[in-house]
Amino acid sequence: MSPTRPVRFLTGITTTGTPHLGNYVGALRPAVQASRRPGTENFYFLADYHALIKCDEPARMQRSTLEIAACWLAIGLDPESVFFYRQSDIPEITELTWLLTCVTGKGVLNRAHAYKASVDKNVAAGADPDSDVTAGLFMYPVLMAADILMFKAHKIPVGRDQVQHIEMARDIAQSFNHLYGEHFVLPEAAIDDTVALLPGTDGRKMSKSYDNAIPLFAPPAELRKQIAGIVTDSRVPGEPKEVEGSALFQIFEAFASPEETHQLRRAYADGIAWSDAKQMLFERIDGEIAPMRERYDALVGNPAQLEKVLRGGADKVRALATPFMAELRSAVGLRNLAAGTAPARKAKPAKAALPSFKQYREADGLHYFKLVDSGGALLAQSTGFGTPQEAGRMVAQLKQGRLDGAQAALQLADGVSRADVAAALATLAQG
Ligand code: TRP
Repeated sequence: MSPTRPVRFLTGITTTGTPHLGNYVGALRPAVQASRRPGTENFYFLADYHALIKCDEPARMQRSTLEIAACWLAIGLDPESVFFYRQSDIPEITELTWLLTCVTGKGVLNRAHAYKASVDKNVAAGADPDSDVTAGLFMYPVLMAADILMFKAHKIPVGRDQVQHIEMARDIAQSFNHLYGEHFVLPEAAIDDTVALLPGTDGRKMSKSYDNAIPLFAPPAELRKQIAGIVTDSRVPGEPKEVEGSALFQIFEAFASPEETHQLRRAYADGIAWSDAKQMLFERIDGEIAPMRERYDALVGNPAQLEKVLRGGADKVRALATPFMAELRSAVGLRNLAAGTAPARKAKPAKAALPSFKQYREADGLHYFKLVDSGGALLAQSTGFGTPQEAGRMVAQLKQGRLDGAQAALQLADGVSRADVAAALATLAQG
């Protein structure tokens, strides 16, 4: 079954820190490859509002944004074929954050891992639970939900640590849809378990916090020095080496073809000197990175050009965000007073007073419908159908007031009885 609409992927990159080889192999490189898949639309943005939660140094904020924007373009992201923008260029995102804030339970945010970790740390230290916790940190998941929901993204490629945030975005979307009608697509986390986890120079997972990371765009001399620092065992030249558990070998593998990896494996067995293996690794990494490093240096040296690319990206996504935000403002009742001043609830036009069916497609590719009452509140939701026609046939049957045989396909909303649904269907069948 081929999708009628392209699958939309969206991911945010917090603009803090300097990318290292582990980020490149585990996230950046696969993301750029993924951006070229046919049948997909890809949104990549610099999450500088999220960075602001952690960074209160203006110069560092600006510099990080410059470096991370340059990094994405240098590794091959094509701003013409994807949506590449800076979060803070899209005022609609902060505007949407407020609408979402108003449908988000505070208790839900209390349970967010990042916030809870800060609280736990404070409690363990005997401090006030919310000591040094800003409301920005607390609201992090809502801002992230706005990033995602604004562009009706289906799939959100993230690391496991972010899955809870995607689930929250989904819940927030559902609350909003329930109150105001079907405006948001429900997003799903997309986790790629096939990408390599790169070891750092000490053999543990490469991570800035372990101080074992090799910067992606280190100058060649620095790269050579970092590689020389990779921990190896004490086997002398001529002595066979183990590939198992060798960080050097694993890093090589992440940058080499199967053929080249095979050659190094043989060289290990033949007792290659560690210094020679390190030279091979340096050449392999530098071979892949050098052209990117050159582009990176050129981009960082030309901030005006980068600014132009980002502004172009902002124009492209605001063409989507501005009208959608207008739709959402109207949905919640932030409206032009002179236009259509329907009295609240009481005397709605006859048509709007009817319950109605809404059909939609989910990220799982299946077709669903829901029945909402005259006020837009959810009464029942269907199970997934393989085709829109199947879903449509079930809707047609229900519209004739026939609930028989449809029960297995209907999940009643909380607090809704079968009689409520039957009554709504009866109203519809008459109308
Ligand atoms: N929180 C994400 C991270 O730290 C970054 C991010 C912000 C994001 N907004 C997003 C990721 C929206 C995906 C979608 O990695």
